[in-house]
Amino acid sequence: MSITILDNALLKHKLTNIRRKETNTKDFYHNVSEIAGLMTYEISKDFPIKNVEIETPICKSMQPELACELVIVPILRAGLGMLDGVRRLIPTAKVGFIGLYRDEETHMPHEYFAKFPSNLADDNTIVLIVDPMLATGGSAIAAVDMIKKRGVKNIRFACIVAAPEGLKALSEAHPDIDIFAAVCDEKLNENKYIVPGLGDCGDRLFGTK
Ligand code: PRP
Ligand code: URA
Repeated sequence: MSITILDNALLKHKLTNIRRKETNTKDFYHNVSEIAGLMTYEISKDFPIKNVEIETPICKSMQPELACELVIVPILRAGLGMLDGVRRLIPTAKVGFIGLYRDEETHMPHEYFAKFPSNLADDNTIVLIVDPMLATGGSAIAAVDMIKKRGVKNIRFACIVAAPEGLKALSEAHPDIDIFAAVCDEKLNENKYIVPGLGDCGDRLFGTK
């Protein structure tokens, strides 16, 4: 298990863009997608590789290629904002979907959709769950539960903004997964929104509300 908070100047700059309340839907989506792409570099750093024989224009040579399959699982809706950014770098990845919404009063997650590719639980599959916001951790914990129930062993979770409360809850509930965040903010407010955060990510990505 690991928790990695990324440290990169370009990432920090793009994070500030999405935190600004005047950032419009188009720019918000664009920056979220780019942040997800930048995060993929760190998330994939230790993906398993194998050596294969290839022929360069000069000679035959043994060279590394990925020895794993990636399944990206965005948590609907806001996770969709990160999907393209990861897929652009790993276009062979398959995609599953988990639909969860957080009850406005109780803040508890409710499941409304699940659809996964057939290789989800294969031995060489890495499942990467993506959701820009890790607040109480309830949605992420429920998503990992759903994936584990299907026999998956190798799970990574990537969010853009994490709250300390969410990081603690997720790592305690699922100590065997690797967690990546672009930043860890100060705290949650009384409505369980991340402070300073960026507001409601799903609404800002899709122009709702
Ligand atoms: C947001 C966010 C996470 C969840 C985080 O989704 O995208 O899924 O809240 O909060 P938690 O850590 O306290 O569970 P939301 O339920 O607002 O749904 P949406 O993506 O459809 O807007
Ligand atoms: N979901 C969001 O979209 N934003 C938060 O700050 C917390 C949960």
